[in-house]
Amino acid sequence: MKMPKRGPSREELVATMEKYRRTDGDAAGARLFSLVYAVPPDVDAVAKDAYIRFFSQNALNPMAFPSLRRFESEVVSMVLGLFHGPEGSVGTMSSGGSESLLLAVKTARDWARAERPKVTAPEMLLPVTAHPALLKAAHMVGIKPVLVPMRDDFTADVDKAKELITDDTILVVASSPQYPHGVMDPVADLAALAASRGILCHVDACIGGFLLPWVERLGHDVPAWDFRVPGVTSISADLHKYGYAAKGASVVLYRTRALRRFQHFVHADWPGGLFGSPSILGTRPGGAIAAAWAVMTYLGEDGYLDLARRAMDATAKLAKGIAEVPGLRLLGKPVMSLIAFSADEGDLYVIGDRMQARGWRMDRQQAPASLHLTVSPGHDAVADVFLADLRECTREVIETKAQAEGASAMYGMLGQLPDRGVVRDALLDFMEGFDTMADGAGDDEKA
Ligand SMILES: Cc1ncc(COP(=O)(O)O)c(C=O)c1O
Repeated sequence: MKMPKRGPSREELVATMEKYRRTDGDAAGARLFSLVYAVPPDVDAVAKDAYIRFFSQNALNPMAFPSLRRFESEVVSMVLGLFHGPEGSVGTMSSGGSESLLLAVKTARDWARAERPKVTAPEMLLPVTAHPALLKAAHMVGIKPVLVPMRDDFTADVDKAKELITDDTILVVASSPQYPHGVMDPVADLAALAASRGILCHVDACIGGFLLPWVERLGHDVPAWDFRVPGVTSISADLHKYGYAAKGASVVLYRTRALRRFQHFVHADWPGGLFGSPSILGTRPGGAIAAAWAVMTYLGEDGYLDLARRAMDATAKLAKGIAEVPGLRLLGKPVMSLIAFSADEGDLYVIGDRMQARGWRMDRQQAPASLHLTVSPGHDAVADVFLADLRECTREVIETKAQAEGASAMYGMLGQLPDRGVVRDALLDFMEGFDTMADGAGDDEKA
């Protein structure tokens, strides 16, 4: 597209945007099982209203917009309360899980440079199931990632971690829970291992942080994972996941102010003035910070408890229903609202394709192959229809012995290819295609 010389009317502009998004997933509804969180319309409205009010504000300079500074510090203190932050614990808002993790890993590197100067080639231990944002962070800040294998129940193998830890290890990571199977890593054991070496332990609660405290209060069995666990030095948790805030909001928290000091970047000699930046972004969108504050305050403990109850009830119903579909099998023992299942009969990815053709989008996972659901409170309204469709699609695929075609066949093949370098190249080629893939979005009138 070439930039128009003269723009269209606002009505035409809106019409074009609406046309483009006709082929998008159902962002507000409950047919997506990842990427978005289906919540009651009033919660969405609160987030949108706050976002628009602070649409132009910029939290780069905390002096210019004291309102944003106040929102951020109140969000951080509410979250510290929720995660049992001890006296002196602090935090920062960021734009999402990846930024929070990058900050935690960069902080660990700079801490080690100051406190472990003999370590010249730092390493971090992380479970194979940890989110790839941590590998991206390690890559970006120059720390060698050392992967800890998982046990049969998909949790990190602590005995293997003990073998893999070296004098160069500066950071141990645990997920609470990990995304692929929704199970908790043994946070207490991994944190104790880190503490025994005098190094840092980060808990990635990006997906679990805003649900687990309520799940625990509802009486479910949730092993301790937050600052109550000795040895946990930092935690990340995403407001734009189960915090139900607008996209672009997360927190990274530290047990001590002294540790967070390593996160901050300052430059004292810039002709443009004294410069200080707490996070990766320079300009920080005020809307996302205000929306997070507004939603947390609006929902309060009772609101979050209510939504957690709905999400957990929907999860229980879906998990039971999936387990009862002949040919399908649940994986692991998830602690909250993440479900992974595989197929003992029929091609699982074809089942995923058939479900997608009916409007249901689940993540395709590998090693072992599984389909993944992130369950939101709004899924309670669609659980029965989903299960009926899943039963039908699975039966069809088993009876017709349907084979994977196109993208699914490719995905299955790449998942099993022993040469992972070839797979990485294929992924990079695929990403090059994103530029052209967007052409024609919304053109399919039937979509
Ligand atoms: C456990 C975990 N950590 C980190 C992330 C990354 O978060 P974001 O996509 O907000 O960068 C995710 C995303 O799903 C996650 O599940």
